[in-house]
This record gives sequence, C-alpha cells and structure tokens, in this order.
Amino acid sequence: MSNAVISRLRAVFALPNDDPRKTLAVAVALCLACSVVVSATAVTLRPLQERNAALELRREVVKVAGLDDPGVSLEQAFEQIETVLVDLDTGELIDGGAAATYSYREAAQDPAQSLALGYDPGGIRRRPNRMPVYLVREDGALQTIVLPVYGQGLWSTMHGLLALAPDGRTAKGLTFYEQRETAGLGSEVASPKWLGQWPGKTVIGPDGEPVIEVVKGSVDPSAPNAEYKVDGLSGATLTSNGVESLMDFWLGEQGYGPFLARLDELGR
Ligand SMILES: Cc1cc2nc3c(=O)[nH]c(=O)nc-3n(C[C@H](O)[C@H](O)[C@H](O)COP(=O)(O)O)c2cc1C
Repeated sequence: MSNAVISRLRAVFALPNDDPRKTLAVAVALCLACSVVVSATAVTLRPLQERNAALELRREVVKVAGLDDPGVSLEQAFEQIETVLVDLDTGELIDGGAAATYSYREAAQDPAQSLALGYDPGGIRRRPNRMPVYLVREDGALQTIVLPVYGQGLWSTMHGLLALAPDGRTAKGLTFYEQRETAGLGSEVASPKWLGQWPGKTVIGPDGEPVIEVVKGSVDPSAPNAEYKVDGLSGATLTSNGVESLMDFWLGEQGYGPFLARLDELGR
C-alpha cells in the first residue's frame, strides 16, 4: 500500500466517531475483512467437502448394490465393486480411464468432454461422453450393474443410482442421493417407501427401448405390463415425471443403451 493511501486512511480513522465518512470507512473495512474470512473458509473446506461427497457416493453405491452390511466397513464393501468408465457412444469400456477420480459433473460442463443434446427429456442440456459404472461380480459372473442417472425434477437436478440385474433390464434398486425437491412432496422421491417399489420392475423392454413409467396414482398389479410401472408420488406429479424422463434418457440410445446392449462382453 502506498504511503499516500496509508496517510489517507489514517486521516479518515482520525475523524470523530460520528462523522459519516468514518462510519462508511469502518463499514467497508468490516465487509472486506468478513469476505476474506468467508472466502478463506470456503477454500479451506472445499477438499473436505469433496472427500465427504465421494464417501457419500460410495455409501450409496454400496447400498443400492445390496452390499451394505453393518459388520463390514464401507471401504471393505466398496472393494467388492469394480468402477469402470464407459464410452456412451459406443458402449465400450475405456481402458486405463481414471474411473475412480472421474467426475461426470465436471465433464458435463466441458464442451470437449460432453455432447449438446437435441433430445433431452431429462433437461440436462449436455451429456458427458463418458460415465462411471459400478459392477458387482461373484466368482467372475456379473451380479449387479449400478448406473449413475440424473435429470431435472421440479426444482432441482436429481442425482441417483439405478441398480440393474445382469439381464440389463430388471431393476434391483434405485436411490436418489441428491435432490432439492419440496420436503413432503417431491422429496419423497428419495424415501425408502417410494424407492421400495423399484426392485423387480422391468425398465427396458424386449426391443431394448426404455419402458418404465411413473404413473399418476397407483399401479394395478393385475393390469397388463404392471411390471413396467411404478406409482407416482402423490401431490408431486412434476417430480414423478422428472424421474420417468430421466429414465427415458439414461436407458436410451444416448444414455446407457449401447453399453447395456454389450453386457455379454462383461461375462454375465
Ligand atoms: C410450495 C409448493 C411446492 C411444491 N413442490 C413440488 C415438488 O417438489 N414436486 C412436485 O412435483 N410438485 C410440487 N408442487 C406441486 C406442483 O405445483 C403440482 O401441483 C403437482 O406436481 C401436481 O401433482 P398432483 O397432480 O399429484 O397433485 C408444489 C407446490 C407448491 C405450492
């Protein structure tokens, strides 16, 4: 700081306390000090937040894959899961891809790593070219495939994980681990009760197209194709529609469709 500025500041702070110029100077100095503290705290905490988010994601992957066991640590449970990176255009696994550290959220922001969408039922605008996929095997045979999915609800982007059986068509589970829909309405999308309907539902039809529907009201179990339908959330049709739309996208041709068509190559 130059001497001229310092002597100017001294002059301002030497003013009487009831001088408006001094009041203004003190207010500005206080704002500056507070913003430095807030920025420094945000920067310091960011790595911790990222680590916690990564741990939370692992916990959700383990849970939706059906591997959570109170007697087994999260690390041990997650070691049973293979994380792979999938090229969504071809459905091929990417060799040497840093799947564990890859962020599909960052990729979606980068035009070099993502595709601007024309068909965009999930309202995500850009689709990452690659997505991480989690595989569970037993004695080499594929047991569960966990696919990250996301799309717009009414108020927020809902991030979830869909677990599929090795046939690539039958749901084993679904979770939404990040969403900001209204508590008691749309946020019921993350409730165990609503998610409990998904295991056993058929999400992809015999012709390889997404078929799962989130219907308004309740599904009549005796209705034809009841296995393609789940109950909508009461009072939250818009969030429910968001779930159906994001499933349409991620299970379709521009989502995991090409990958799911090649599951035989993964030893199911
Ligand atoms: C304050 C407020 C919050 C709402 N939050 C949601 C929500 O999170 N998800 C949703 O689908 N609808 C929400 N709604 C309701 C929608 O506006 C709309 O009425 C509803 O989705 C229609 O669903 P229904 O046909 O099952 O009644 C909210 C409405 C209000 C007034």
